[in-house]
Amino acid sequence: MRQGQPVIRAGMIGLGMIFDETYRPFFEQVRGTHLYRPDFGVVEVELAAVATRTGQRAEAYRQAAGSRIGPFISVHGAEAAEQLCRLDVDAVCVATPDDRHYAAAKAALQAGKHVLIEKPSVLRLQELEELIRLAHEKRVLAKVVYHKLLDPDHKKLRTHVADGILKHVNSGYCSLLEPKQISMSQFSEWIQGRNPGTYVAVHYVKLIDFSFFHGTQARLGSVTATGQRGLVGRADGPTWDSVQLRMNYVYPDGREAAFDIHTSWVNPDNFPGYVEQEVQFRFDNGIWNAHQRKRGVEVCVEGMSPNPIKNTPNHHYNGTFLEPWGERSQRGYGIEAIQRFFEEVAEVEFGGPPSERDQRLERVRGLHYNDLSADWNTVATVHALEAILRHHAEGRPGGVVRIGGGRMTLQLPGSGHVETLYEGQAWL
Ligand SMILES: NC(=O)c1ccc[n+]([C@@H]2O[C@H](COP(=O)([O-])OP(=O)(O)OC[C@H]3O[C@@H](n4cnc5c(N)ncnc54)[C@H](O)[C@@H]3O)[C@@H](O)[C@H]2O)c1
Repeated sequence: MRQGQPVIRAGMIGLGMIFDETYRPFFEQVRGTHLYRPDFGVVEVELAAVATRTGQRAEAYRQAAGSRIGPFISVHGAEAAEQLCRLDVDAVCVATPDDRHYAAAKAALQAGKHVLIEKPSVLRLQELEELIRLAHEKRVLAKVVYHKLLDPDHKKLRTHVADGILKHVNSGYCSLLEPKQISMSQFSEWIQGRNPGTYVAVHYVKLIDFSFFHGTQARLGSVTATGQRGLVGRADGPTWDSVQLRMNYVYPDGREAAFDIHTSWVNPDNFPGYVEQEVQFRFDNGIWNAHQRKRGVEVCVEGMSPNPIKNTPNHHYNGTFLEPWGERSQRGYGIEAIQRFFEEVAEVEFGGPPSERDQRLERVRGLHYNDLSADWNTVATVHALEAILRHHAEGRPGGVVRIGGGRMTLQLPGSGHVETLYEGQAWL
């Protein structure tokens, strides 16, 4: 980080759908407004470099954005992520397909850059452990985007739990169904061998873990999963249409809490909302029901609904608006999550004297909603899910992953075989 000069130069790895929805509007807006907070003052954020597989999206973006964005370097090809990390950037955002997060994030941390990774951070606990270790060694931030934690409804849910109004969660279900367009077109290039649980159940895995269990003595005890195939890939292949995941937490007094999370990416494209998402959480003294798109707006336009104008839109995540004061804007909690990360980098680098940087770094690492050091249970669930589905696709369904006694293990029914997925002091 260059000393004294209040600029954060950002590198972006991956310029796909999520870049377009959240990072792009953030970089374009912050170019005009800069960041400001009394502790760090005015800090500029520049999109300085991008890395993609072919370079085509970078050039298309450069043309489309025109003066909305400043000059940026574009690198592409198999080594693009590593190349970008050697450039003069201070913070790197990783928005590649999820099985490529680890290599890109590792290269960035090794180069001493602050890192923000799209969800899920990584797919295996060993990878998480290594990224946390590197972030400590290099004295930088390593963070992950779970924007559902910034949804006002989820903030209220967590507030009720934190304030003791909703007491002791016992069980719940969540459902998140993506349209076929995601699996059949948007992600068709990299979907082979992948599943929608890792892609979107993690939103709810994190919401549950952070809202109900973070900072408590309860622990993740077991994970099970099954799923269906035959639409995106072959019925006996490794690519999944839908996934049903169950996480089980254990309280210190022996009571348990189980959560079923159902996901798919084969919902009809003409569904009235973009994504179908609902939850129900049951407590000792209450119940919470929420629906992400039925928050009150229902709209229908001849020739435009359900595509491109959905009948039940979610304007809270990310919407384009004409503000009452005449400006055009794009805003929502999806973009807010990106801005928060850059404010956290600004706090570390410019929020006080250089001699106190370490204290600021520790304070910002203590924000567990996005710090990798608090992502263990979420990555464990993803790691477990990936292992269970791999065995299932190879003809060994019904695996159970158990966490405890210093290990995370997978056991198959009718078999004495126990596979150790993770063993380590860092987490267990
Ligand atoms: N927060 C959310 O709600 C949300 C929504 C969608 C996607 N995501 C996450 O964002 C990530 C990207 O998803 P997307 O929808 O933008 O995908 P996408 O397929 O639209 O884009 C992927 C991008 O990564 C680039 N890329 C692929 N491999 C690369 C490599 N090895 N080096 C450099 N660049 C590489 C591609 O060129 C492309 O620009 C995924 O991890 C996904 O889970 C998050």
